[in-house]
Amino acid sequence: VVKLVSLLIVAYLLGAIPNGVWIGKAFFKTDIRQAGSGNIGTTNTYRVLGPYAGTVVMVLDIAKGTVATLLPIWGHVTTGLGHATPLLFGLFAVLGHTVSVFDHFKGGKAVATSAGMLLAYNPLMFGIAAGLWVCLIYWTSMVSLASMIAFTLITLISLFFHDIYLTGIALILTLFIFYRHRSNIRRIRQGTESMVPFGRGFRR
Ligand code: G3P
Repeated sequence: VVKLVSLLIVAYLLGAIPNGVWIGKAFFKTDIRQAGSGNIGTTNTYRVLGPYAGTVVMVLDIAKGTVATLLPIWGHVTTGLGHATPLLFGLFAVLGHTVSVFDHFKGGKAVATSAGMLLAYNPLMFGIAAGLWVCLIYWTSMVSLASMIAFTLITLISLFFHDIYLTGIALILTLFIFYRHRSNIRRIRQGTESMVPFGRGFRR
């Protein structure tokens, strides 16, 4: 039990690392929470600090979810949850990312860390999600909308995998991602959501 609790805390702390904030402060002397959408994730890092920093934050935020999800396998931890144990650890990373001890218990919108969890649990599902996400960004020019639609679609697609845990976790993550995007949903409805400067939806 001590090992289980310790590793869950490690998963939370991993997820809590605010890569966007720390990279912005360390290399750009910029607090991304004070600029753009104010979010600490990939999209706002890209918006405020550019594509290189955005890509680094995306990779690191995905890695947080992946490493946390693999922790119980590496640490040989078993719980009564069996197959679903890695997902519990992934959820702790998502919790860390959104309610971060390093960010006054605030945090990001859960997209990249959730994707990292999928990468560890079911790489094919991650590949499908990533492909859909890129197409949807091109189609809508809005990362927020693309993220919400991509997670909704993978919840539906997960039904073909006949894995109740995969569908369950996809549904939980989708609902949570919608909840975290409340301000984006408001802006999308008002027609004021910020766009990436490419793709079909982009208005000059
Ligand atoms: O990854 C978060 C993204 O879906 C939206 O970010 O900064 O446009 O609110 P942002």
